[in-house]
Amino acid sequence: MNNKIIIINGPNLNLLGEREQSQYGSITFDGLKEICIKKSNELGLDMKFVHSNIEGELVNIIQQSINKFDGIIINAAAFTHTSIAIRDALDVFKKPIIEVHISNIYKREEFRQKSLISDIVTGGIFGLGANGYILAIISMQKLLKNEN
Ligand code: DQA
Repeated sequence: MNNKIIIINGPNLNLLGEREQSQYGSITFDGLKEICIKKSNELGLDMKFVHSNIEGELVNIIQQSINKFDGIIINAAAFTHTSIAIRDALDVFKKPIIEVHISNIYKREEFRQKSLISDIVTGGIFGLGANGYILAIISMQKLLKNEN
């Protein structure tokens, strides 16, 4: 049976392509979803791609993922820097988690340079644009097949 993964996107990522192209490039949210679906299919992963602007909804999605998915890829966007609730929810998920950021958060404003989830996830990718999602999918497949 195929491994099941979920890619969770936090606030404002639905505006990709419109917002700060210097940080996030020109890819749209739908374009990002499309390349992630393509790569997941290629690698034989059943993938769900979700977005919410709402912190509590993201917590619900993470909680509901515990029994449904084998791995989480998450770009918690601005909540990365503020949300203990998202951190606590992720901490209950005892399977691989990969944190992704399109931009290099360590090269930006000081308030972005702290992630509240980095120390509880399996690994992270930042600053590589939309390609970071593709690298995360490849890494997740290897983690789930114990090929990492
Ligand atoms: C982001 C970085 C965050 O600081 C920011 O709030 C985002 C996107 C990224 O992908 O680079 O919305 O997570």
